[in-house]
Amino acid sequence: MTDQVAVLPQEMAVIGAGSYGTVIAELAESCGYRVALFLDDDLAKHGTHLDGVPVLGPIEAALGSLPPSLAVSVAIGDNDTRLLWLKRAKNRGHQVPALVSPQALVSESATVEEGAYLHPGCHVWTQARVGFGSILSPQASVAHHTVLGAGCFVSMGANVGASIRVGESAFFGIGSVTSTGVQTVAGHSLIGAGAVIIRDTQPHGVYVGSPGRCIKVNSA
Ligand SMILES: CC(C)(COP(=O)(O)OP(=O)(O)OC[C@H]1O[C@@H](n2cnc3c(N)ncnc32)[C@H](O)[C@@H]1OP(=O)(O)O)[C@@H](O)C(=O)NCCC(=O)NCCS
Repeated sequence: MTDQVAVLPQEMAVIGAGSYGTVIAELAESCGYRVALFLDDDLAKHGTHLDGVPVLGPIEAALGSLPPSLAVSVAIGDNDTRLLWLKRAKNRGHQVPALVSPQALVSESATVEEGAYLHPGCHVWTQARVGFGSILSPQASVAHHTVLGAGCFVSMGANVGASIRVGESAFFGIGSVTSTGVQTVAGHSLIGAGAVIIRDTQPHGVYVGSPGRCIKVNSA
């Protein structure tokens, strides 16, 4: 008879008890974590449960009371807010692991940084890099040699072409195409759903249509 050693799943707290919290919890569990807590700033949620898991808050105070052995994920769509909480959790000594779905297709030569979330069906191609806290939704693709900075969000079905440098906290709407040939998507660019980007973008610019045109520049 062989001795069997039970390996307990590592426990995780998820910041953000909204609908995206359930999405990140499902991803975390598919990666072998057990979600033990949600943290949220919404007073109405404190003391309640989300999918059977207790919700505590406010986030700053609850985070301060957690043992550092608890890993932390952040289920917040807003790029800058997600980055902020990931950095605070990391600074408090928590692991903020990348969560890569077993159904994501990731090249062996690609790099996925901490706190990045790769949902089922996304594709990261040869020597691409997914930065700290960036998210790839189902069917999102990042082509070869493209570098996504920290805190980017690539929505469902969005395609980011090859050899593009993407600045921090850029957002790619559902089904958008950022064509190979673009050199830089600037930080905080917001690419609208279905847009086709064929030229470099400017920081905080909002782009729609095909070819993509800038309709406004958000304040920094
Ligand atoms: C681009 C976007 C951010 C603009 O939002 P907004 O700042 O609230 O802009 P408005 O809705 O006021 O629209 C401004 C103009 O752009 C047009 N527009 C907005 N989004 C558009 C889009 N995706 N494609 C084409 N035109 C668009 C509007 O029709 C409007 O045109 P008008 O001035 O001629 O009436 C938003 O429409 C969008 O596409 N968001 C991405 C959503 C998404 O993919 N979410 C994924 C989450 S999982």
